[in-house]
Amino acid sequence: MNIFFAVVFWAVLVLCHPSSDLNKVWGKWKIQHDKNYDNQTEAAFRRAAWEKSLHLVLRHNQEASEGTHSFTLGLNHLADMTTEEINEKLNGLKVDELFHFRNDTFKEVSGSSLPRQVDWRTSGLVSPVQDQGLCGSCWAFSSMGALEGQMKKQTGVLVPLSPQNLVDCSTSDGNEGCRGGYISKAFSYVIRNRGVDSERSYPYEHQDGRCRYSVRGRAGACSRFHILPQGDEKALQAAVAAVGPVAAAVNAMLPSFHLYRGGLYNVPSCNPMLINHAVLVVGYGTDRGQDYWLVKNSWGTDWGEDGFIRLARNKNLCGIANLAIYPTL
Ligand SMILES: *[C@@H]1O[C@H](CO)[C@@H](O)[C@H](O)[C@H]1NC(C)=O
Ligand SMILES: *[C@@H]1O[C@H](CO)[C@@H](O)[C@H](O)[C@H]1NC(C)=O
Repeated sequence: MNIFFAVVFWAVLVLCHPSSDLNKVWGKWKIQHDKNYDNQTEAAFRRAAWEKSLHLVLRHNQEASEGTHSFTLGLNHLADMTTEEINEKLNGLKVDELFHFRNDTFKEVSGSSLPRQVDWRTSGLVSPVQDQGLCGSCWAFSSMGALEGQMKKQTGVLVPLSPQNLVDCSTSDGNEGCRGGYISKAFSYVIRNRGVDSERSYPYEHQDGRCRYSVRGRAGACSRFHILPQGDEKALQAAVAAVGPVAAAVNAMLPSFHLYRGGLYNVPSCNPMLINHAVLVVGYGTDRGQDYWLVKNSWGTDWGEDGFIRLARNKNLCGIANLAIYPTL
């Protein structure tokens, strides 16, 4: 809530003393997020994008304080980027082969016996949130997040796996590194390669690189993956409850998603057919009568609730149940 009040405070400042205080807020924000720009042109462009974000955040949070929204926005590290840039550089999920897989589904759905709340973080199945940077590698983080959970269930140890391994080595499976990839083809690579390295032995580099997979660094493997029935949130709920964290996809195109700070994300205009970003569903629950999914993102811990988002459940919001996949060892 601190940031929320800080933003309201800025609103007062900005309205009363337009330019000098705005400069101060801008200066503080740049220091906080370690921003340095190459030249004046770039700095002016970033400042303009940031001011647009600022006005959106102020207006949205004002409305939230009046009860119009169930979530707040904040000036995170993405605030100096345009909506188009974020969608182009960060949302690298490819989905065009979605329909080939629809029969391979999870069948043990039994609505009655499902727990009302699940949070796999409390059982140690979820590794720390990472920041994919300006690389469309969300598909690699999402798929490895699901595999980490299954590995932990089998071995008792949570070992972060290497998205970089997938970025660099799964091109022949159909992925394109920082230019995007598929959750399914991430698992295809791990199956074909008979393993994937740990994050520790093959650290993340925020860019494409040469394949350096080493069997000595191998920390995960799977033999199959399963695609849940499209749009079926009950099946997703059953899978999350019974299996563990599930790789999924959302429409992450809206500025309100980019600048999400906290609360229950519920934007009815978030089109479920336009999924473009891979994430990890690590649980679900109900908050003040509203059902939500607990979702891990890969945009660092400055984004959202320490890197997570709570997304309204049982309306297939942003298409959360349209491409859900989990591996089995
Ligand atoms: C300013 O920096 C941007 C981003 O680094 C770069 O694309 C652009 O060419 C630079 N412009 C000039 C005039 O140096
Ligand atoms: C899925 O199953 C149905 C009925 O069993 C079948 O008609 C259809 O061809 C299958 N689709 C795929 C992609 O295998």
